[in-house]
Amino acid sequence: MRLQGKRALITGAARGIGLAFAEGFAREGAQVAIADININRAREAAAGIEGAIAVQMDVTRQDSIDAAVAEVEGALGGIDILVNNAALFEAAPIVEITRASYDKLFAVNVAGVFFTTQAVARGMIARGQGGKIINMASQAGRRGEAVVGVYCATKAAIISFTQSAGLDLIKHRINVNAIAPGVVDGEHWDGVDAEFARLENRPLGEKKRLVGQSVPFGRMGTAEDLVPMAVFLASSDSDYVVSQTYGVDGGNWMA
Ligand SMILES: NC(=O)c1ccc[n+]([C@@H]2O[C@H](COP(=O)([O-])OP(=O)(O)OC[C@H]3O[C@@H](n4cnc5c(N)ncnc54)[C@H](O)[C@@H]3O)[C@@H](O)[C@H]2O)c1
Repeated sequence: MRLQGKRALITGAARGIGLAFAEGFAREGAQVAIADININRAREAAAGIEGAIAVQMDVTRQDSIDAAVAEVEGALGGIDILVNNAALFEAAPIVEITRASYDKLFAVNVAGVFFTTQAVARGMIARGQGGKIINMASQAGRRGEAVVGVYCATKAAIISFTQSAGLDLIKHRINVNAIAPGVVDGEHWDGVDAEFARLENRPLGEKKRLVGQSVPFGRMGTAEDLVPMAVFLASSDSDYVVSQTYGVDGGNWMA
């Protein structure tokens, strides 16, 4: 039990990778708060995990961030681990990207991470027991992609923010690191596949098949593939690891 007695807040954990992290952290002894804009799904998810609570949270709104963090700190007595996982994806050629899409993706994927980190770090500093903050970056933040300009830029921002926040917060023994997945199958990628089907005039499912084939490991990732790295970064095993972004992508990216 590597997370015994730890309390974790995971944003966007009602489904997908965040939900797998919640289940994985609970298996390691942590109490988890499943925070999501979709409170009904968050409640369903929490019902299946021992000791978990569901919290309504919209990471684009400061009042919602503050209320959710206060609710979790009140219910669990503090937050030792934060996973900034909530994010949105949209694709469009550069000349067709709308300002509304740009603003929405940066509000969730970047500002959401900045200001949730800030709210949780304040409590961690006040309690004086350090903490672990894990940001979800992406291979998309390492290299641009033709029709994914906004999403790639948001994930590059997360790699940069992870470096700055890690350097600033390590004096409080708060480790900030990131995970950069490659292509992870699930509801998120069902949506990505549908967007590429429209943009590239492909049958549904073809983009998934192609990206899976191109992974050196030989298949798309699963949310479960990412859990051991998240547990490592959430545990004391990573105490000396600061400001890093780890690829867990079947070999897609090499730094
Ligand atoms: N799936 C992949 O292939 C992949 C690859 C690289 C990186 N990632 C990153 O991993 C993370 C999780 O991805 P996923 O595939 O599980 O995504 P997902 O779309 O399945 O889940 C995202 C969750 O975030 C929630 N959410 C959306 N907007 C929110 C908001 N404003 N406030 C709070 N919650 C909100 C959604 O309701 C949903 O439950 C994301 O940061 C994503 O960018 C995913």
